[in-house]
Amino acid sequence: MAKVISLVNQKGGVGKTTSAINLAACLSIAEKKTLLIDLDPQGNASVGIGLDRKTFANSNIYHALIGQIPVTEGIYKSELPFLDICPSDTNLVGAEIELVGAMARELKLKTCIAPLLDMYDYILIDCPPSLGLLTINSLTASDGFIVPLQTEYFAMEGLAQLLQTVETIKGSLNEKLDLVGILLTLFDSRNNLHKQVSGEIRKHFGPKVFDSIIPRNVKLSECPSFGKPIILYDIESRGSEAYLSLAKEIILMEREQKIEEPVQELNEEPVQELSEERVEEIRDAIEEVVESVRELREETTNEAIVEPAQELREETKEEVEIPPVIEDTPASVFTEKTEDIETTKHS
Ligand SMILES: Nc1ncnc2c1ncn2[C@@H]1O[C@H](COP(=O)(O)OP(=O)(O)OP(=O)(O)O)[C@@H](O)[C@H]1O
Ligand SMILES: [Mg+2]
Repeated sequence: MAKVISLVNQKGGVGKTTSAINLAACLSIAEKKTLLIDLDPQGNASVGIGLDRKTFANSNIYHALIGQIPVTEGIYKSELPFLDICPSDTNLVGAEIELVGAMARELKLKTCIAPLLDMYDYILIDCPPSLGLLTINSLTASDGFIVPLQTEYFAMEGLAQLLQTVETIKGSLNEKLDLVGILLTLFDSRNNLHKQVSGEIRKHFGPKVFDSIIPRNVKLSECPSFGKPIILYDIESRGSEAYLSLAKEIILMEREQKIEEPVQELNEEPVQELSEERVEEIRDAIEEVVESVRELREETTNEAIVEPAQELREETKEEVEIPPVIEDTPASVFTEKTEDIETTKHS
C-alpha cells in the first residue's frame, strides 16, 4: 500500500519541485516503487524529470481529474526503472475552476488515485504555490505532508496559515493527515542568518524537522534543464548526498513505525495449523504428564493411608493399659503348685 506524501508550501520558490523530483528519484534507487504526481499547472516537475510537454498534452493528471481518462493512462516511465511520473500542464489551471461546482470536489484526487495505491510504495505529490483547491485535494488524498522551508528571514511567514489549513482538512476531510517533516532547503552554511533561522525552526518544531538539510547547490539548479534528477546528473554533488540522506531518513522513519505494529499483528495472527507429527509429539508429551500425575497421586494416596495407621498405632499404644505389676505375689504359690503336679505325676 503506497504512502502518499504531499510537498506543500504556499510560498513560491522554496524548493517544493526540486525536492519532489529528487526525493522521488532517491526513493526509487532504493528500489521503492515511486510515482511522482505533478499537481502544479506550471508543470515544472514533469519537465524537470525529462518528459517532453508534447508527449503528455492530451493525457495527464488534468484529464484524469476531470474523469476523461483513467489515471493509469496518464502515467509515464522515467529514466529510472522504479520511478514513474503523472505529469500536468497549464490545463490544470482550468481544473481549479471546473471543479468548484463539482460534488465532493475536495475528494477528486483521492478517488482518482485510489487504483494506484497497490502499485507503488510511495506516491509524492508536487503542489502549486497556493492553498487553493488543488492543494486541498492533494492534502485530502495524502497520508502525510512535507513542508520545504527556505532558511530565510521570512521562512516561518505563512506557515501558521498552512498548518491552520491542515487542521481544517484533518477535522473534516482526512483525519490521518500527518506532518512527515519540515525540510530545510536552500541552506548556505556560510550564511549566519541561515544558521540562525534553522536554529529557530529546530527549536520550535523539534524532531519534526528532518536531520537532512538541503544545501544551496548549483548542481541542483542546473539539473532540471537537462531533464535529470540530481543523482543522474551529478551523483557526487552535495545535492545528491542531501537528497539520498533524506530518502534514507524517510524509509527508516517508516520502518520504525512498522516495527511498533507487529505486536498487535502478532496477537491477531490466526492460530497456525499443526502438522500430524507435531500433534503426535504433543499427544506423547501430554500422556507423559498424565502418567506422572497418576504416579504422584498414587504415592500421595499410600502416604495418606500409612500416616493415619501410624497415628492409630501410636494412639493405641497410649490407650493400652499395662497391667500393674503385682509385686507381692508369693513365689511360693507357684512353687507349691509345681510341687503338687509333680507329686501327682509320681503317685
Ligand atoms: N537546493 C537548491 N540549490 C540551488 N538551487 C535550488 C535549490 N532548490 C531549488 N533551487 C532552485 O530554486 C528555484 C525554485 O525551486 P523550486 O522550483 O524547486 O521551488 P518551488 O517551491 O517548487 O517553486 P514554485 O512555488 O514556483 O513551484 C529553481 O530555479 C530551482 O532550480
Ligand atoms: Mg514548484
